[in-house]
Amino acid sequence: MKKCLLEIINSRRTIRKYKNKKIDREKIKLLLKAARDCQSAHNTQPWEFIVIENKRLIEQIAKLLHGKSKNVHIGFNILLKEASKILMQTPLIIAVYNTKELSEKFSFLGKKYKKLCKLYEIQSIAAAIQNITLTAEILELGLAWLGISVFCEKDINRLIGRKSSLMAILCVGYPSEFPEKPKRKDINKISRFIR
Ligand SMILES: Cc1cc2nc3c(=O)[nH]c(=O)nc-3n(C[C@H](O)[C@H](O)[C@H](O)COP(=O)(O)O)c2cc1C
Repeated sequence: MKKCLLEIINSRRTIRKYKNKKIDREKIKLLLKAARDCQSAHNTQPWEFIVIENKRLIEQIAKLLHGKSKNVHIGFNILLKEASKILMQTPLIIAVYNTKELSEKFSFLGKKYKKLCKLYEIQSIAAAIQNITLTAEILELGLAWLGISVFCEKDINRLIGRKSSLMAILCVGYPSEFPEKPKRKDINKISRFIR
């Protein structure tokens, strides 16, 4: 098991190809625990994680994305087709939902506050997803964060019987590819010191 957080951050890659092997229940629990233990705005924990191991259901979601690729702007069709391919191989997905607890609670205060609360929810959920991705790396699991799945929110919700707001689908499996790190921007170009 890798120990140093900086090493984990550096070695983590998006993994889009997996072995045909079930993930141990203990590992799935550790991923969910990492999400649960994440910080969140006002500790509202505005998230829900739907774990799907049913191969047929995952394939149905993959087909939804493929179908959608025919009616979207060029570029996005490729992303949807690629995501569909990834879903076809993954043994497990985690559909991440925004429960909107914060923005609904404070909606009576008006637009400005609702907007802030929505941002808080998105930031909190992104942080929880990041906890999952880093934990997956520690557990030597591969993970792909599929933001593009949101395009099919309605159809996915109908399929899995949800009503809330889909934020992402995470594909998880034992990696069968080990990609190079995509190029990053120079630190000097993305940061400024004000002294
Ligand atoms: C918000 C978000 C949405 C993403 N959506 C997708 C996606 O729909 N499909 C995909 O293949 N990768 C997706 N990714 C993964 C990125 O493409 C990937 O992180 C980036 O290319 C850098 O590669 P690395 O993760 O290996 O460092 C997403 C990542 C984030 C943070």
